[in-house]
Amino acid sequence: MLALIGGSGAGSISRLSIDERRVIRTPYGSPSDPVVRGTLGGAEVLFLPRHGMSHKIPPHAINYRANLWALRECGATGILALNAVGAINAGLAPMDLALPDQVLDYTWGRSHTYFDGKSGVVRHVDFTHPYDETLRGRIAGAADGVGLGCFSPCCYAATQGPRLESAAEIDRLERDGADIVGMTGMPELALSRELDLPYASLCVVANMAAGRGEGEITMEEIERNLVTGIENAFNVLEAALAG
Ligand code: HPA
Repeated sequence: MLALIGGSGAGSISRLSIDERRVIRTPYGSPSDPVVRGTLGGAEVLFLPRHGMSHKIPPHAINYRANLWALRECGATGILALNAVGAINAGLAPMDLALPDQVLDYTWGRSHTYFDGKSGVVRHVDFTHPYDETLRGRIAGAADGVGLGCFSPCCYAATQGPRLESAAEIDRLERDGADIVGMTGMPELALSRELDLPYASLCVVANMAAGRGEGEITMEEIERNLVTGIENAFNVLEAALAG
């Protein structure tokens, strides 16, 4: 059973028919919300809103370890993540969808591993290809099927937030090879690998990144673009689950 992790603008699960809601406690604390089990695209899925249902948890304060642990405990065998991003690559525009195959991690101070030395287990997971190719292929095929383009492959840069970046920081990310930038991709992706859960992320462009569009980036602009972008993303995920 696949698990959907909803991001900004996708706290709502109106597309999902809900069968069960489970409050889970983990050795790492509480996840962002109860885990929902339901049906989407005719398939049984789990759903967890990363920021909590009322969007109260900022990216750096999310308990990523508890979220993934709880999903696995509820029977997740893979993760389909939704992430809002800023576009660095000029080939992208607001409301576009992107499907990263690589990641750059600029986050800090987050609980980023299950192998933190306390369990007595030392493990260095392979992370050469951080996203799962089978799940990526399923999403790309579904996007084609519903007539929505999906920018792929591309590189996701994870920043700490909650502030947006400076124009110079975006220039640096571009020099480093990033196409899109968001605040929630890591450590979620790495923790999934540590739990041996295949993971793919469907990213929704909320805005052009700092210095790549006209003027300042506003929350109103981000929220407006996410309404359509998330709607499109759910159309793709629904088709991916149905296929
Ligand atoms: N930067 C980082 N995270 C984001 C952005 C951005 O421009 N837009 C949406 N999430």
